[in-house]
Amino acid sequence: MNHFAYRDGVLRAEDVDIAALAEKIGTPFYCYSTATLERHYRVFEAALPSGTLIAFSVKANGNLAVLKTLANLGAGADVVSGGELKKALAAGIAPERIVFSGVGKTQAEMQLGLDAGIHQFNVESEPELEALNQLAFASNKRAPITIRVNPDVDAKTHAKITTGTAETKFGIPWNRARGAYAIAAGMKGIEIVGVDVHIGSQITELGPFEEAFTRVAELVKQLRADGHLISRIDLGGGLGVPYRLSNEPPPDPARYGALASRIAKNMKVNLILEPGRLIAANAGILVSRVVYVKDGEAKTFAILDAGMNDLLRPALYDAYHEIVPVAEPAASAPRHRYDVVGPVCETTDLFARDRDLPELKSGDLVAFLTAGAYGAVMSSAYNARPPAPEVLVNGGEWSIVRPRLTDDALIALDRLPPWLEDQTR
Ligand code: LLP
Repeated sequence: MNHFAYRDGVLRAEDVDIAALAEKIGTPFYCYSTATLERHYRVFEAALPSGTLIAFSVKANGNLAVLKTLANLGAGADVVSGGELKKALAAGIAPERIVFSGVGKTQAEMQLGLDAGIHQFNVESEPELEALNQLAFASNKRAPITIRVNPDVDAKTHAKITTGTAETKFGIPWNRARGAYAIAAGMKGIEIVGVDVHIGSQITELGPFEEAFTRVAELVKQLRADGHLISRIDLGGGLGVPYRLSNEPPPDPARYGALASRIAKNMKVNLILEPGRLIAANAGILVSRVVYVKDGEAKTFAILDAGMNDLLRPALYDAYHEIVPVAEPAASAPRHRYDVVGPVCETTDLFARDRDLPELKSGDLVAFLTAGAYGAVMSSAYNARPPAPEVLVNGGEWSIVRPRLTDDALIALDRLPPWLEDQTR
């Protein structure tokens, strides 16, 4: 459920009129709903045993205001860079509620985590383990770690977002896991606390989770028999969300929560989960204006002022996002077939092919739904286009939580080397 709906003929985010907002701040822009973020968090929390650490995956939506909204509910954070770690801390998330994942943590990033005193490092390789041990030892600390194991389970999701098969770069291969724990146990700078697994994202069946979690439970038994103290299991993120209103929705978070709870109860461990999309995706939309409607030879193109630089998912993963007019169309409005595209000079700047929509005209506003996760965070300034700003709504209030860069501010990010400086005037 989310809080974007038509009322009095116009799309609203909670009580805020999206058309009026577009007039005030210009398009394109991302708009997030506080009520939806809160609802998603609470529904998920209710499905899990008390004491579970819900570490919101900052990569899905790293806006400070979004993080702070979740932090106020008690969320922790799953971070994958020094920058994300600093953002989570800046949003008021306690270090004891932060887990650090990622295959390429640099020494500087790991040092940040050690200095902050984070909950755990999810270690993804033997060389990383060695580097972390040395750093921690040199700082007179013991780094709390889990080892991210790769369970070789097919998550049955898009190939570009599957992470738990033997071909991917993530985690330590299953058959080396016990060996890695044995090495870790002998390290003075390392404290083993648990096991970590994450098999992919936008997973729409429970089967792959069940398979992976069952394998992890078996591993925990073996590790305990080997003499390791395993008090936590981090089950990662990955539950999918409904992008197509017409499709059957993915399993609801309560069923997923029940599965995770069962594992925790059987194994007598504290649970950690790292949801991203589940919390943020349906809490955000991207609002854009139609620049032109162009009749091509074979197609009619609705050309928007948002491009792949603002919302990359369709170009990168052929991802589907519902597109709706901001002005509520009459139920009987005839449908027209469009290729909905952006202004970027790339053929792949295509949001939707052959999409049936109510008639669009230049100046009309449209909204991409389910854009709150992996939207703004993946934006860029390609084609010298300042990325879409972000707005957070709370009831009838709204606030710009990341402003639009001006063209001049964007240009000012570049520097000329001394030998070219004089030639600009
Ligand atoms: N934990 C780890 C270790 C992860 O790698 C990820 C996502 C998550 C948690 C959060 O997964 P979620 O609950 O959001 O599915 N850009 C892609 C998705 C990439 C996901 C990467 N890892 C997209 O737009 O679909």
